[in-house]
Amino acid sequence: MRVIIKDNYAQVSKWAAEHVIEKINAFNPTKEKPFVLGLPTGSTPIGMYQNLVKAYQEGRVSFKNVVTFNMDEYVGLAPTHDQSYHYFMHQNLFDHIDCPAENIHILNGLAEDLEAECEAYEAEIKKFGGIHLFIGGIGPDGHIAFNEPGSSFSSRTRLKTLTTDTIIANSRFFDNDVNKVPKLALTVGIATVMSADEVMILANGHNKARAMQQVVEGAISQMWPISCLQNHRHGILVADEAACAEIKVATYRYFKDIEKGN
Ligand code: GLP
Repeated sequence: MRVIIKDNYAQVSKWAAEHVIEKINAFNPTKEKPFVLGLPTGSTPIGMYQNLVKAYQEGRVSFKNVVTFNMDEYVGLAPTHDQSYHYFMHQNLFDHIDCPAENIHILNGLAEDLEAECEAYEAEIKKFGGIHLFIGGIGPDGHIAFNEPGSSFSSRTRLKTLTTDTIIANSRFFDNDVNKVPKLALTVGIATVMSADEVMILANGHNKARAMQQVVEGAISQMWPISCLQNHRHGILVADEAACAEIKVATYRYFKDIEKGN
């Protein structure tokens, strides 16, 4: 696992965006052989998306032959609801780049048969031969997508109940009213993320410091879902200084040293 430590959020966002651009361009995607990208929501990736939009406008990257799969979606919110992840993705990325609508996949939280929706999603990922690069954020409790503590490492896309921690954390987007936060969500599983060729996780801010400490220095445990990254062949954590507040000085220096120049 690589740990890239950057001074601040702006630098985390820039590094992450440049990594995505490099990957897409090196792959040289075509319609027949698209680059398959897994995408997150949350406040963390917004800066990366802004950098990607800018790079697209500058002609440094195209998403014409990129296929995307989003991580998760709330159950019961219409795509037009300003807190739905459909809405978020269009506002922050898709409305500003050249990714064709038919290449965009986001779980439908309004599907009549939620189980069938999840199965079809996994089948669609398989149809494209899997995900090349899965990008994610983390919850303060170490959750990834909506895989809350205790989620199985072999989980696939499914319906999940949100924990009180996550409902409280996300209530800031729902007028600070926990009653407005949906209680259920559809989410890719931990194994769905781990099956990607590469996984890049972004973490910034002091409230991610405990989760960061667990992922980097803790044991692999389902109670800290993102600790699964330690087992990935190509796992990258990109974090800012504030998110590193709980790791040992020696660990901090170790990763700073081996990633010098990155
Ligand atoms: C939500 C999302 C996660 C995201 C997390 C952290 O729970 N389902 O995918 O990583 O929030 O969000 P933020 O980046 O706003 O801290």
